[in-house]
Amino acid sequence: MSISSTLGIPDTGIVPRHVAVIMDGNGRWATRRRLPRVAGHAKGVEAVRAIVQGCGEAGVRYLTLFAFSSENWRRPADEVSYLMRLFIQAIQREVGKLAERGVRLRVVGELSAFEPRLQDMIRDAERRTAHNDLLHLTIAANYGGRWDILSAMRAMLRDHPELADDPAGIDESRLAPYLAMAFAPEPDLFIRTGGEQRVSNFAIWQLAYTELYFTDRYWPDFGRAALEEAFAWYRQRERRFGRTSAQLAPEAAITVTQEG
Ligand code: IPE
Ligand code: IPE
Ligand code: MG
Repeated sequence: MSISSTLGIPDTGIVPRHVAVIMDGNGRWATRRRLPRVAGHAKGVEAVRAIVQGCGEAGVRYLTLFAFSSENWRRPADEVSYLMRLFIQAIQREVGKLAERGVRLRVVGELSAFEPRLQDMIRDAERRTAHNDLLHLTIAANYGGRWDILSAMRAMLRDHPELADDPAGIDESRLAPYLAMAFAPEPDLFIRTGGEQRVSNFAIWQLAYTELYFTDRYWPDFGRAALEEAFAWYRQRERRFGRTSAQLAPEAAITVTQEG
């Protein structure tokens, strides 16, 4: 497992290892064009293709896309069922290409809420790409950060019932392996399109030290150039993980001491 940002200092580089995205603004993109909201979702799938390719080429190893939240069931039934159909269609169409291009696909979230056909399709797509390692593409579907933490807690207690009587024995490293994205390092860069500056119950545990990037651009308009802008912004960040700037530039600190 990779290092936790609260237990240690993770390695960071010029290119984010893990990018996590809230793909927001599909509905508004469509409404602006006097189209039904669902047209925005359809267009959004094209943006997904471009961003998967862009991340692969940039050397990003993990890309996580928030596709449907635990709270999105609150939407009108016809929009929800359109989104489900779109999801099925996208998996059917894309899995072959993903498998060929070295992409490993995973879907995280409470999948038991989906119709059995979709669940089978997801498992099958995961199996077909399980040997790949170039880019780990994760779709968060019926996912919620609180659901993730609670189900991790339950799974941990199922495996270690003795911890129920030993609360002090529960620490981060005990719980973390049970989180839905335990296979991935914590996200380095979070991107939210569509102008809202909130996390909407996305990976709330994993975002502890992630750099948060917000753009007004709607998701269907978020292409390769926009992705580059986000990467450029990320390169300017100073990731301190609780330390001071001076500690990050030890040579500068030594010079000051010697001169003083
Ligand atoms: C994000 O776009 C896609 C999903 C939540 C599935 P929205 O549908 O939320 O678009 P806006 O925010 O209404 O414009
Ligand atoms: C967040 O978008 C969820 C996804 C993009 C899947 P929403 O559009 O549902 O978020 P809120 O409700 O505006 O916070
Ligand atoms: Mg929205």
